[in-house]
Amino acid sequence: MQSPLNGRRLLLALSGGIAAYKVAELTRLLTQAGAQVQVMMSEAATQFITPVTMQALSGRPVILTQWDAGAPNNMHHINASREAEAMLLAPASADMLAKLAQGRADEIVSLSALARPRASCPLLVAPAMNREMWSHPATQRNIAQLREDGATVLGPASGDQACGEVGDGRMLEAAELFDALEAFFTPKRLAGRSLLVTAGPTYEALDPVRGLTNRSSGKMGFAIARAAQRAGAEVTLVAGPVALPTPQGVTRIDIESACDLLAAVLPLAPRVNAFVAAAAVADWRPASSAEHKIKKDGSGAVPELRFIENPDVLATVAALPDAPYCVGFAAESEKLLEHAQAKRLRKRVPLIVANLGPATFGRDTNALLLVDETGHRELPLASKDELAEQLIEELARRLDLHAPR
Ligand code: CTP
Repeated sequence: MQSPLNGRRLLLALSGGIAAYKVAELTRLLTQAGAQVQVMMSEAATQFITPVTMQALSGRPVILTQWDAGAPNNMHHINASREAEAMLLAPASADMLAKLAQGRADEIVSLSALARPRASCPLLVAPAMNREMWSHPATQRNIAQLREDGATVLGPASGDQACGEVGDGRMLEAAELFDALEAFFTPKRLAGRSLLVTAGPTYEALDPVRGLTNRSSGKMGFAIARAAQRAGAEVTLVAGPVALPTPQGVTRIDIESACDLLAAVLPLAPRVNAFVAAAAVADWRPASSAEHKIKKDGSGAVPELRFIENPDVLATVAALPDAPYCVGFAAESEKLLEHAQAKRLRKRVPLIVANLGPATFGRDTNALLLVDETGHRELPLASKDELAEQLIEELARRLDLHAPR
């Protein structure tokens, strides 16, 4: 899969901060994704990491000063930002943010940010500083001003700081910055749309320590939520018990049972444009759940399990008078097309995404079959992230037809 950063020209500016070491790794990720990275460093940044490292990683000489006769026109601050499709300031020190908020231009980084063509070279900043510096009203004023001036602020995160204190102000990790840049450059096919996605298994308790669940990992649903958010949608993800991190910018609601899932989904469903039901919902739950652990009585007798049917969340949402566009999943072990078609009609949804459950549970890859009233289309074996992007493109087209903007 090609990264949205492939072929992009980026101006990566460093100001002074311990987090500069993370930018070395970021540069590597960016160049591996096919981006062309021009590094620029303030004098303070060179105290933390050397231009030699940054030149070796980016494959280009680093711009260090505006007084450099190396550029034929002697105007690095103009050239660099005219060539770039975005300028990322990382680490963004408190001092550099203050300069940018004021429009100062007394060294190469702030000068280039000010001289930047704002329409073709947007500014992204990744703050990195001590928590007191970050929470100081002066810094908060500067950040608010930069946002108002059109900058995108990435982070900061919270946690252990180089100074030994703990709090807000840590720069995002290299992988998180990379992710945010990819998201920034992803076409906004779902801008203005909202999505509700379910993911993962459900867990139906038998007693306080035992329960029934299934082998769904949640990876497909999480990948869909991530791809939709990157495409500009407002995304709520209702997740069963899985150990996956929440995709950036996605609102997550954790549930356990099918009944919890229904209760979480019902109030939200009428308010969204699309409902994507990727969760593997248990069809049945124990007729009763014991308050205390079911014990052996020594006689060798085994407990009798009785089940009752769970509500069908997808069919319930699809039957709402103000139902969103519904996408169902079908996890089958055989006769994929036949079962998917039957399921589509039974649940009264326009689109079913079918896959062979046992072949995909827990893996990072999958192959899908899209089934609608006109027929079916295969999405061949690929990573779940890649398939999620293809699904989101498909969904965007369908929403444009179903509910034109
Ligand atoms: N689904 C649901 N609520 C249920 C069961 C399933 O919302 N109680 C949704 C799933 O999220 C999925 C679709 O219905 O989008 C199909 O799920 P699947 O388990 O494949 O089908 P079932 O309806 O359970 O049918 P069967 O088990 O007979 O294949």
